[in-house]
Order: sequence, then C-alpha cells, then structure tokens
Amino acid sequence: MEDNRLLSVEDLSTFFVGGERPVKAVQNVTFGIGRGEAFGLVGESGCGKTMTALSIMRLVPIPGRIMNGRIIFEHRNLMDLSQQEMQQVRGGRIGMIFQEPLTSLNPVLRIGDQISETLITHRGVTARQARETSVELLGKVGLDHPDKRYFQYPHQLSGGQRQRVLIAIAVSCNPSMIIADEPTTALDVTIEDQILRLLESLIAHSDMSLLFITHNLHIIKRIANRVGVMYTGRMVEQSAVEGFFREPLHPYSRGLLDSIPEFTSGTKRLNAIPGSVPRLSELPSGCSFHPRCPHVMDRCRSEEPMMTEAKEERWVRCFLYQN
Ligand SMILES: Nc1ncnc2c1ncn2[C@@H]1O[C@H](COP(=O)(O)OP(=O)(O)O)[C@@H](O)[C@H]1O
Ligand SMILES: [Mg+2]
Repeated sequence: MEDNRLLSVEDLSTFFVGGERPVKAVQNVTFGIGRGEAFGLVGESGCGKTMTALSIMRLVPIPGRIMNGRIIFEHRNLMDLSQQEMQQVRGGRIGMIFQEPLTSLNPVLRIGDQISETLITHRGVTARQARETSVELLGKVGLDHPDKRYFQYPHQLSGGQRQRVLIAIAVSCNPSMIIADEPTTALDVTIEDQILRLLESLIAHSDMSLLFITHNLHIIKRIANRVGVMYTGRMVEQSAVEGFFREPLHPYSRGLLDSIPEFTSGTKRLNAIPGSVPRLSELPSGCSFHPRCPHVMDRCRSEEPMMTEAKEERWVRCFLYQN
C-alpha cells in the first residue's frame, strides 16, 4: 500500500480562528488514497468535509487556517510548496469539481475558452491545440455537438451540462487525482446518475484517484473503494466499502446506516440518531459523539479515543474497540 500511495493526509487540523473560540473544522485527520483508488468522505453537513478538501488544495478561506499537518502528494509535502508551485498542482495534478454554485464557470467566457485556458496554463500548448483538445474533451464528457458547444456561454447550458464542462476542465490536464465535493448535490436524480456514470467511466479508463465527498451513503456505496466517516471535524472510521456496509464499526456509522431503509438489516426499525450535531466551538468533552451514543461508557465523557485498527484495514475512533 505505502508504495502505491498517491496522497497521505497526516494529522491535519484546520481551525477558524477569528472569533472568541476557535472553530475546529478539521481535527487531527489522517487518511491516504492509493493510485486508482476512489476514497469516499462522508458525514453530515458541517462536519468538515469541504474544509478537508480545501486544506489539501491550500484554499482554506480566511479566517480559516491550517494549524497542523502534512499533505504528501506525489512524494511532496504540499505544505512546503510556494504559491506558484501550488498553482501548478491545482488544476494540473489535482482536478477539482465542486458543487456548482461554489466554483461554477465564468459567466462571461465561452465554455470552450475556459477549458482552453486551463490547457494553456498547465500544459503550455498553443491556442489552436488547446481548442482541438477542448472540443475532444467536450465530446468525451458526453456533450453533443462539441464543436458548436465550444462557443456557448454557461447560461446556455443546463446544470448537468455545466457540471460536465467542469469535469472536462478537471480532467483536461490528466491529473493523477480528482477531488469532487458534492458534485451532484444540486442536480436531480436522473442527472446525478448520468454524472456519476461519467465519473465512473473516466476513473475506470485511467489510473486517476478520486476523493469523493458526499453526505449520501448510496453514492459512497456505488463509487468508493474505501470510506472515511467524519463527525465534528474528526475522522471516526475508515474502512473498505464492503466491510463498512456489512458491519459499520463506529456507533455513529451504525446510526447513519440505520437511518436508511436499504441499509437497515432485517426488520430493524429506522432509528434517527438521537440529539443533534453539537457546535464545533462548543464540543462536548471526551468523545464528541458521547451525548448521542447508545453505547456510552464513563470514560467516553472524559477521555478522547484514538484512531485504532479494530480489524484488518479497518480503523475506528471508539473505546468499544480499545482495551
Ligand atoms: N467561513 C467560515 N467561517 C467560520 N467557520 C466556518 C467557515 N466555513 C466553515 N466553517 C466551519 O467549518 C465547519 C466545517 O465546514 P465544512 O467543511 O464546510 O463542512 P461540510 O463540508 O462537511 O458540510 C463548519 O461546521 C463551520 O463551523
Ligand atoms: Mg461541504
């Protein structure tokens, strides 16, 4: 595995430090992605998924700050790179696809020119080569009449078509990894299915790795080889996908699965997890899940569990699995 590693995130912490108390958006997060692997990052809204992705790209918005951690990507620690080197990584070695409203396309530029621009910046090709490649890419991501599409503006496309253009930009420089942050959340289910299919086929026909962020466990099951579950800025479980859906280890993961009919075994009733997610600036002591946990023990209220290997290749942050 180690040799095959493309990305290692080690002990990453990212806080928002403007207010009276720091908001610990990401705390001591560690995980890795192998070449060709699809890693799914899942968790409820506000648990730190996007900040994890933005930390990797070193795009955390002010007053957010990476407080600690190493991000080893293609054998370099991204934390040590200059801004200029980092710009080569973004869009060049790592393609990014965000939920549309976030990144979106430049409304006043033709979509083809936006792809060409990336190619010229990162690959140093001529304008003419860039145009040819862009038309090819528009076809590859499934847009009809790519030669005509080239000249259209974002508002002339549907949401699904715009997401295809963003995917074309993301893969244009043959990156070794794509980070997709809720890329289908704004789309209806039919279009979502088409976009997932496109991503699946792009991954299958290359050795690109994928970091896929979603709150939707159905998508994780479909697209990921491994899954990481986040809760209040912490990674609480990391497993291969099959094992995870068969037997989730962390009580929070069990709660998430139990709230979805297809993943609930037998006649079990649908349980919502009791209580609500605490604010990140006022986290409970000990394990931050303890007030909601059906298995809470005394020590969970005062001590914080470490991430430990509970089974082969399965990691969990919970005292149920520690001596
Ligand atoms: N601009 C900001 N200023 C202050 N806190 C922020 C800001 N953006 C995000 N946060 C904090 O970071 C936490 C994690 O956010 P985020 O990574 O976007 O969550 P997710 O993507 O899992 O929904 C949020 O719960 C919020 O408390
Ligand atoms: Mg998010």
